[in-house]
Amino acid sequence: MRDESKKENDLLGKIVSLCKRRGFVFQGSEIYGGFAGTYDWGHLGVALKKNIIDAWTKAMQDHRNMTFLDSSIFTSGKVWEASGHVSGFSDPLIICNICKEKSRADHLLESIGIKADEKLTNLDINKIFDTNRTRIKCPKCGGKDFGQIHASNLLATSNLGMLDGEEEQVYLRGETAQGIYINYKNVLDTGFVSIPFGIAQIGKAFRNEISPRQFLFRKREFEQMEMQYFSHPSEAMGNYELWKKERMEYYKKLGINPRKLRFKPHENLVFYAKAACDIEYKFPFGWSELEGIHYRGDYDLTQHQKFSGVDMRFYDEETKEKYIPHIVETSVGVDRTVLMVLCDAYCEDELGGNKRVVLKLPLKLSPMVCAVSPLLKNKPELVLKAQEVFSILKKEFGRVAWDDNGNIGKRYRRQDEIGTPFCIVVDFDTLGDDTVTVRDRDTGEQERIKVGELIEFIKNKIN
Ligand code: GAP
Repeated sequence: MRDESKKENDLLGKIVSLCKRRGFVFQGSEIYGGFAGTYDWGHLGVALKKNIIDAWTKAMQDHRNMTFLDSSIFTSGKVWEASGHVSGFSDPLIICNICKEKSRADHLLESIGIKADEKLTNLDINKIFDTNRTRIKCPKCGGKDFGQIHASNLLATSNLGMLDGEEEQVYLRGETAQGIYINYKNVLDTGFVSIPFGIAQIGKAFRNEISPRQFLFRKREFEQMEMQYFSHPSEAMGNYELWKKERMEYYKKLGINPRKLRFKPHENLVFYAKAACDIEYKFPFGWSELEGIHYRGDYDLTQHQKFSGVDMRFYDEETKEKYIPHIVETSVGVDRTVLMVLCDAYCEDELGGNKRVVLKLPLKLSPMVCAVSPLLKNKPELVLKAQEVFSILKKEFGRVAWDDNGNIGKRYRRQDEIGTPFCIVVDFDTLGDDTVTVRDRDTGEQERIKVGELIEFIKNKIN
């Protein structure tokens, strides 16, 4: 059991190292020693992230009554007062009395094997912490002398708009959802939608996490893909069940290992929620939240109605009924999805007697669709022909790599490591019969395909 968990922890380390080595993800501000909780995306990371965003967008677009929004990152401070984030969006901070190290109390509990549900209140965590105080050690100095738990607010603040003596506190958004709630009336008033309908949005969110950790899992600056579905109160629970089913199917269709996905109902519902669950993935550090699906009732719109004075009710012309719609939310992080996809795809195996690392990414998500090489880089006729093939494929797919570095074996290893599904090699036969070798990433099998049929061949495989 212990061996198993060590192997799993090593896996995260290997993924972090591969991400840097091959240009998926770099530590933020690395040349200045790094800036905790931030990461920068390299060439392949940008491509992988875009493919994930495209897959989510396509799944949302498949709904007849889905609309899209791109709201501001800076918002009036009132938004966050109304939403409850100013008063209640916090983590349980605890400070070591000996070395002053700041930790999250729930993370310290985890270190002694007590998994504190993410949805527990700080008061609950306080009680559990107090009964276990004598067993808990500071991760930095090993001491056991802690202060009291404080609620540390997660909203990141800005001085924007606070110049010239303005008093209003400004926050960077802690979730994209609030931008949707405050625009719900605008979207409705366009006349293109009626209840039920959804608003989907992708964008950056910021949180003052006390201890960002587990690579892309918990960052301070991250991207969310959120959807809020507005329903008649009598239909909202049914829609919650439908969205649960749909979102789980989505991950399975995307090609994620179904044995590593599960639902986890929330044991402690926040007071306004009617139902809530997470889709969890079995990350190397254990089952953890990937996506939240929440039936939030009319809480958010009622709050914004109260604080803004704007009537948030929907008027149904047919039934003459006026009501505040109920909301079902689906919310997932792009960064967390990238980590999940990488963990699911990472594989060490043996091909033709050689050990290799391969990312068996779903073909649709691979940063590169294929790589093109001349068999020998010092034969101009091969290079010329390979460049011609490269141009044809690049024009069609965009995500095509040119790789003429090292021998063919090394090129295959390199492309396997970044998950490129097909390696295409131009050799001397190509010059005679206009066929190329196409090597399959997963099986290593090679077949000869006519240059004129390559696009069709690849399209059939990836669609
Ligand atoms: N609007 C609801 C909401 O924001 P949440 O559970 O706090 O709910 C939703 O976040 C999703 O956003 C999570 O399931 C996760 O995928 C992602 N997420 C949250 N905090 C994150 C962080 N610090 N770093 C990376 N992703 C995060």
